[in-house]
Amino acid sequence: MPEDGAALASRFPGAFIFGAGTSSYQIEGAACDGGKGESIWDRFCRKRGAIVRGEDGRIACDHYHRFGEDIELMRRLGLDAYRFSIAWPRIQPSGRGAANRAGVSFYDRLIDRLLESGIEPLATLYHWDLPQKLQDAGGWGNRDTVDRFADYARNVAALFGDRVKLFATLNEPWMFAFVGHLLGRHAPGRHNPWLSMRVFHHAMMAHAFAFESVKSERPGAQVGISLSLSPVIPQSSAQRDVDAARRADLFTNRLQLDPLLRSSYPDETRSLAGPFFPRVSAEDSRVLARRSLDFVGINTYSRVRARYVRFFPRLHFWTDEDDVPETEFCRDGAQYTDMGQEVYPPALRTVLERLRDEYGNPPVYITENGASFRDIPEHGRVHDRKRTAYIEAYLAEAARALEDGCDLRGYFYWSLLDNFEWSYGYAKRLGIVFVDFDTQERIVKDSGFRYAEILAEHRKCRRTAV
Ligand code: GCO
Repeated sequence: MPEDGAALASRFPGAFIFGAGTSSYQIEGAACDGGKGESIWDRFCRKRGAIVRGEDGRIACDHYHRFGEDIELMRRLGLDAYRFSIAWPRIQPSGRGAANRAGVSFYDRLIDRLLESGIEPLATLYHWDLPQKLQDAGGWGNRDTVDRFADYARNVAALFGDRVKLFATLNEPWMFAFVGHLLGRHAPGRHNPWLSMRVFHHAMMAHAFAFESVKSERPGAQVGISLSLSPVIPQSSAQRDVDAARRADLFTNRLQLDPLLRSSYPDETRSLAGPFFPRVSAEDSRVLARRSLDFVGINTYSRVRARYVRFFPRLHFWTDEDDVPETEFCRDGAQYTDMGQEVYPPALRTVLERLRDEYGNPPVYITENGASFRDIPEHGRVHDRKRTAYIEAYLAEAARALEDGCDLRGYFYWSLLDNFEWSYGYAKRLGIVFVDFDTQERIVKDSGFRYAEILAEHRKCRRTAV
């Protein structure tokens, strides 16, 4: 029996912030407008077979032209905060040099409108749309990109940091390093284990230097990073699956958390990756030891199951995400989303408890959590019962984590709008707002109304608390 909205809302402290998230390439469109440079996603989408049905983000939700309407929707939903990303190639079309006026003006107007609407901005500096010009020079595999990113971050802090107080440097470095450079399913579509590890290390360095850039411009800003984290369980009780799950955890969760929160990469990951592990200079180790982080952003959706596989060099594991059908279905009483992810609300709490127990309980925001289901509008409504239940159940776990002492500060549902879901194109819908991509009509789904109700109850508790 789901809790009523008021009871659920009352479990979150007054200062807790509720929001929703998006990213530039997934919603903005206007790929060539306002002097924007080409990004690696503009390029990758043109590659044959890279994206389902050959779709791309050229128009997406046309948010670049409709941001006013979208902010009005956020205001009506009662969001406290909005997580968006700044497209680097709008600010620096070639990844370096002076800021592009039209690009700056777009984000100025967006931020001003958010603040006028009483919505706090959380700006991600990089959600995967690297300027193609930097890719031509080696992309994240080239150490120079680390310096370029730190410079871009300084620009962004100078331009917007008078109004934006929360920044996330990178979105999911693990994903762009390995899905982009090892599995080749994301831009820039490479398959190179040496390169992918080097990219990951450069991402850690880029984060640390960008943290310093932002702080030097805006000492009062809170600067974090968004990481993709999921509990890993073995697919069976066979010893080799149990070992595979341990390796998978080392290679995914600990590879990200240890350098950021424990000052160095786990020794076990180094030995696991062996010759693929990048050189980490003494200077880089000192940079890691500074632990440049005000908060950890966590993107978490489900748990994953790992099993032993022979073909994967050194790592010898595979996780189930790619082996389950990409449809919504039920198995053993569990609901799966139409991206084949198990709906498993305790995953969210497990990740938070791990940060509390093993990583010193840092301040955390859930920067992404959400589900894709097949939504069909009927007479101007979208009755997305499964997504509504998903949000209620995951929020209940977030509340439990808070009650158990986790330092959780906020929750951002992914996503505000149905959008360009990377290699899936427009086939997968995660929004609490439905988007008709032919007409650009927006329809608040039932889950959006439910989320709004919970947020309204939370504001009431806030008022009665003062
Ligand atoms: C991210 C994500 C989002 C996706 C979401 C659903 O990693 O930040 O990939 O951009 O839309 O995770 O898959």
